[in-house]
Amino acid sequence: MSNLVDQLIVEIDRGLKFSASNTQECKRPYPAETTAEVPLTEIEKNYSAGLMRVNHAGEVCAQALYRGQSLTTELNDTRDQMKQAADEELDHLAWCSKRLEELGADTSILNPLWYVMSFSIGILTGLTGDKRSLGFVEETEKQVVRHLDKHLDELSDKDIKTKAVLEQIRADEDSHALRAKEAGASELPEEIKAGMSWIAKIMTSTSYYI
Ligand SMILES: [Fe+2]
Ligand SMILES: [Fe+2]
Repeated sequence: MSNLVDQLIVEIDRGLKFSASNTQECKRPYPAETTAEVPLTEIEKNYSAGLMRVNHAGEVCAQALYRGQSLTTELNDTRDQMKQAADEELDHLAWCSKRLEELGADTSILNPLWYVMSFSIGILTGLTGDKRSLGFVEETEKQVVRHLDKHLDELSDKDIKTKAVLEQIRADEDSHALRAKEAGASELPEEIKAGMSWIAKIMTSTSYYI
């Protein structure tokens, strides 16, 4: 029990860091490092910033979900997979943060709230068993891919830097979904899928603005 409390304290500390800090370290290079910035109008810039604030908040949620799940997942293999995925999501968090900085915009002030909410969902999901837990990962990643496709479509064609970042993230999320499926993910009931996209809608529609 004291072990679990210790782990929780470590996780809360990490969560505060992930959700409040503007700078994170990444293991892989920034995908838009060598892409030249094309001047954007104020409207285009604000729109890109809003979408990237949403994506950054999404990555905060991904951290929290994976880390929450890794605490309650039963099998060691699944736990290692969750931790590895959380590490890869750290690159995304850092890249979104960097792009926001380049656009002269802030991260969402609601991030600590999203972290706590997603971390709790992750813990509960982990308790439902490994197959369900992996099913949750697969569905989350699939929803993120659909969401990124929409952003890629809506962004100004001039904003090639944001597009370069999102395209790399999209490829990673796609492979996260595939890995979860290959590890034995079970298909989630439709009501759960609908509930997940409903929660995502609340997060995306608020984080766009604040
Ligand atoms: Fe991600
Ligand atoms: Fe992912």
